[in-house]
Amino acid sequence: MAQRLNVMYQKKPCYDIVFSTDWKELALELEEMDLHSRKLCICTDSTVDGLYADALKELLAPCFSKVIKFVFPAGEESKNLDTVRDAYRLLIKEKFDRKDILLALGGGVVGDLTGYVAATYLRGIDFIQVPTTLLAQADSSIGGKTGVDFEGYKNMVGAFKMPRLVFMNFETLKTLDDRQYFSGFAEIMKHGLIKDAEFYEWLIENMYEICERDLNTLSEMLMRSCMVKKLVVEKDPTETGERAILNLGHTIGHAIEKAKNFALYHGECVALGTVAAAYISWKKELLSMEEFYEIRDMFVPFYLPISVEGIDPKAILELTKSDKKMDAGTVRFILLKKIGKAVIDTTVTDEEILAAIQEIYFDEEANE
Ligand code: GLY
Repeated sequence: MAQRLNVMYQKKPCYDIVFSTDWKELALELEEMDLHSRKLCICTDSTVDGLYADALKELLAPCFSKVIKFVFPAGEESKNLDTVRDAYRLLIKEKFDRKDILLALGGGVVGDLTGYVAATYLRGIDFIQVPTTLLAQADSSIGGKTGVDFEGYKNMVGAFKMPRLVFMNFETLKTLDDRQYFSGFAEIMKHGLIKDAEFYEWLIENMYEICERDLNTLSEMLMRSCMVKKLVVEKDPTETGERAILNLGHTIGHAIEKAKNFALYHGECVALGTVAAAYISWKKELLSMEEFYEIRDMFVPFYLPISVEGIDPKAILELTKSDKKMDAGTVRFILLKKIGKAVIDTTVTDEEILAAIQEIYFDEEANE
């Protein structure tokens, strides 16, 4: 039997996150919504298409008047306005109207892009999130952030648009390659670090089961991780304040992602950015040295990087300034006061950021 959490928006119940191991439960959820007169477009990428899209199209056909598919090439390179335009063209050709629905089947790119199409097509139509990667299940499918990259800037164009339902089938996590799986774990670790020290300890205690992808452990891990995200986005849905703590590791992380031209996964960059943020927190005497090293080394058993080669630290510093987490020229940095407590800090200097980048920089020449 599926478990669920309800997410409130503007203090009213808004959508459920359903945790399941069976696609049939998605069909049951949609049956309950009585959408028989509506059309559905399953939006997915070329990787996920081959795994689940056709089976879902068949399974969900009885719940709608028509089910179609929109498939685009997998990868961050597709997360742009050209792909959005292709989606609009298909929806217009298939005569989708305001009552019809999109379903995002895939990882963070698919969810963010489909959500943005849903937010803007005919000034907004409903959409459903069916995240299939750990990163999307733990983070990007929840909270209504949608958008695309623009001319190399990550998520520069977007909108807040709440989904009607988030449905996650943990079985999909078994088909992820190791790198993809562990990349998603960085966002889970982030949830423990910013708001839930007990959950952070639990992650350490359950390291073996998490690495082995034991389904019961994954189920508890995602329920607890989604609870942190739910509580934060309910309080501050449009990021006017506290929601910014979810950006721990993202200022330097996004800069590395861009400098490396997306050769490193988002979660890998978040891990690096979190080590850098923890380093600044130590240097500002918020964290002890022991806490800094504990946080840094916690990423290692989950195969996440704690250092990066082939970057120019000064160029990374410059890139942090073009990240959209800027506030009137000041970077809003997320630091850790202790494990389980994040703070927003606007006093971090360029020197402090550069020192943190140097800390995670592995200089091949110096180490020859
Ligand atoms: N991924 C960060 C947020 O949803 O705010």
